[in-house]
Amino acid sequence: MSEPGAELFPLFLKLRDRAVLLVGGGPVATAKAGALAEAGARVTVVAPQLTDALAALAGARGWTVCQRGFVASDVEGMWLAIAAATSPVNRAVADAAEARQLFLVAVDDPASASAYGAGIVRKAGVTVAISTSGQAPALAGLLREGLEAVLPDDLNDWVEQAARQRAAWRADGTPMADRRPRLLAALNELYRQRNRPLSSEDAVAAGGRVTLVGAGPGDADLLTRRGAERLGQADIVFYDALSSETMRTLAPEARWFYVGKRACRQSIAQDTLNRLLIKEASRGRRVVRLKAGDPFVFGRGGEEALALAHAGIPCEVVPGVSSAVAAAALAGIPVTHRGVSSAFTVVSGHHQAVYRPVLEGVPRTGSTIVVLMGLRHRAAIAGHLLQLGWRGETPAAVVLGAATPAASRFVSTLAALAAAGASDDTGDEDFGRPGVLVIGEAVGVAAEIERAYAAAAAPDAAEKGTR
Ligand SMILES: C[S@@+](CC[C@H](N)C(=O)[O-])C[C@H]1O[C@@H](n2cnc3c(N)ncnc32)[C@H](O)[C@@H]1O
Repeated sequence: MSEPGAELFPLFLKLRDRAVLLVGGGPVATAKAGALAEAGARVTVVAPQLTDALAALAGARGWTVCQRGFVASDVEGMWLAIAAATSPVNRAVADAAEARQLFLVAVDDPASASAYGAGIVRKAGVTVAISTSGQAPALAGLLREGLEAVLPDDLNDWVEQAARQRAAWRADGTPMADRRPRLLAALNELYRQRNRPLSSEDAVAAGGRVTLVGAGPGDADLLTRRGAERLGQADIVFYDALSSETMRTLAPEARWFYVGKRACRQSIAQDTLNRLLIKEASRGRRVVRLKAGDPFVFGRGGEEALALAHAGIPCEVVPGVSSAVAAAALAGIPVTHRGVSSAFTVVSGHHQAVYRPVLEGVPRTGSTIVVLMGLRHRAAIAGHLLQLGWRGETPAAVVLGAATPAASRFVSTLAALAAAGASDDTGDEDFGRPGVLVIGEAVGVAAEIERAYAAAAAPDAAEKGTR
C-alpha cells in the first residue's frame, strides 16, 4: 500500500497574469485574494456578499469583482479555481470545474477539492509547502511555524552558495555523484566561517554577553522591567520553565531553546549548558538565560555565572521574583507577620540529607518554613517536624503553580500532612505543576484575611456567626 498522501502530486504554479476564479466573499476568500495578488494572478472574484477588502479590489489592475452568486460559466477560461464559500456553492463550483478539467482548491472542503492549498514557509527564495491532504490544516500551520523556526536566518547565503556551486559543476562537468558532497562541504565551510568563535575581547566588543534573567514564578507580568528589556535585546534565549513561553512575545526575533526538565530529567546537563552559553556569547551574541523565579535561588545560576567568569564572558544578573516568597504571597500567606513569624527559612526538599539538618535548626515557633522541590517528601518533612516537637495543629499549605492559570492551594496541618501524604508519596509530578510547602503559624494569616473580607462584606452575618 502506498504512503497516505502519495497520490498527491506536489506542484508550484506560476500564476502571474493567468486567470484565476475565486468564489467566496468572506475572510477566508480575502486571505486567498492576498496570496493570489502576491502571485500576480488575474483574479475574478464571485460572491453575493464581499468583505470591504474584497470589494475594494474592484478597481484594481487585473481584478474583476462580481457581486452575485456563482454560475457555471464563471469557470470558463480559468487556469485554476478556488472556492471558499458554503458547501453547496463549493460543490457547484467543483462540478463545473470537473466538467472543464479544471483544478479546484476548495478551502476546508476536501470532498469538493481536486487540489489542496499548502502551508507555506518562504525564506530567502526557498519555498517549503506542507500538505496534510486537506485533513488537518491547523497541523499544517503548526508544522509551518516549526520549520520556519529551524530554517537558518542566513538561508539566502546558502542559496547563493548553492547557485555558485551549480554554475561551477556545469563549467567543469562535475559528475552527479560528487555534487552533493561538494555542496555539503561548501555549506559547512560557510557555517564554519560564520560561527568561528571570537577571542573573548572580540566577543565582548561585538556585544557578546550573557544575562541571567529571573522570570518570576510564571506570569509574564511578574517579570521585572529590566528582565523584559534584556529579553527584547536578546539574539538567543535558553529557558527552563515552560511558563516562560508566555514571555516569547517580548523577544519575538530571538531564537528560543528549551533546556528545562522533561519527564523529571534535566534535558541538558549543566556543563553542556554552561558551554552553550559560552559558545553563543563567544560569537558576539546577546544571550539570555531565562530562569524560573530568581536565578540564584535553587536555580544553578551561580554555577553559570562562575563558568562565564572563567571564560571571560560578561555576565549580568537580573534578579527575579522567587517562588520562595511569591508562591506564599500569591496564596495570601505572608512569610513573616508581626507577632506570629519573625523569620523564614527556605530549604530544598529534594533530599533528606539536605533538609533534615536545616529543619533541625529552625525554631519551633515564631518562624515559617518554605520548602521548594519538596512535594515528593511532604509527608516525611511533616513527620520529621512533628518528631522535632512541632505542634500537630501547625498550619501547613501546599501552593501549586503560583502565578499560572492552574494556580491552586490547599491548607492543612502538619499532622494531617504527615498522615495523608504517607500513602501518596508520589512526588511533584503527581500535581502536574511545581509547588511549595509553607509551614508555620503565618499560614493561618491567609484565612484570617479572608474572614476579615467576608466580615467587611456582610457585617451582620459575621456578627451572628461569632455569637
Ligand atoms: C529548581 S527550583 C527553582 C526555584 C526558582 N529559582 C525560584 O526562585 O522560584 C523549582 C522549584 O521552585 C518552586 N516553584 C517554581 N515555580 C513555582 C510556582 N509557579 N508555584 C509554586 N512553586 C514554584 C517549586 O518548588 C519547584 O519545585
